[in-house]
Amino acid sequence: MSNNEASAVVITGASSGIGRALALEMAHRGHPLSLTARRFPLLEQLREEIHRDINAQLTVQLAVLDVCQIDSVGETLRDLFTRLWGVGTVVVNASANDLTRVGGDSLDKELNLIPANLTGAIATVNAAAAHFLVRGQGNIVGISSLASLQPLNQQAAYCASKVLPSPISCPASSTPT
Ligand SMILES: NC(=O)c1ccc[n+]([C@@H]2O[C@H](COP(=O)([O-])OP(=O)(O)OC[C@H]3O[C@@H](n4cnc5c(N)ncnc54)[C@H](OP(=O)(O)O)[C@@H]3O)[C@@H](O)[C@H]2O)c1
Repeated sequence: MSNNEASAVVITGASSGIGRALALEMAHRGHPLSLTARRFPLLEQLREEIHRDINAQLTVQLAVLDVCQIDSVGETLRDLFTRLWGVGTVVVNASANDLTRVGGDSLDKELNLIPANLTGAIATVNAAAAHFLVRGQGNIVGISSLASLQPLNQQAAYCASKVLPSPISCPASSTPT
């Protein structure tokens, strides 16, 4: 991030957890922000906190985005890229988790992780890469998990779904595979 000190950062799933913490850290470093999630009131609270406690002048744009609504992912991100000049980084953070049991009665819960963690992440990377390829530069940060490397009890579906972010994140200046 050292070459992009003041470039704008888009973070999906910024309403809680790691995405929220990352937004606060990026605000401390002076990066204009675009924050997305489904729970808009939490995003509004976060923006208020950033303006009150960190930097009253920092640009913080908000957008409702459910990454499971695949058709809306590209449209929403393109709109953010237009509204917030100079986006240098997109953090693919939005993700779902649930305790499941293979062979038990949790097939629905297992399958429910796929739209957010796999197809939603792919759609997010796709929109970001399309933008950065035109722009000629940019970073796509996939938030994976150690769970992608080691099976966890009652989290087989989650572990499988978190394999995705590492291999699909690539420098936009390289040829997408
Ligand atoms: N916590 C850990 O120990 C840990 C460890 C390793 C990796 N990770 C990874 O770190 C990332 C963040 O995890 P976390 O622990 O911070 O989880 P979290 O607190 O549950 O936050 C998940 C975020 O994703 C958003 N989200 C969930 N489903 C979404 C959807 N369909 N569309 C758009 N946004 C959605 C949520 O916002 P809304 O509900 O408002 O949409 C929320 O902001 C994930 O990629 C996770 O796999 C976490």
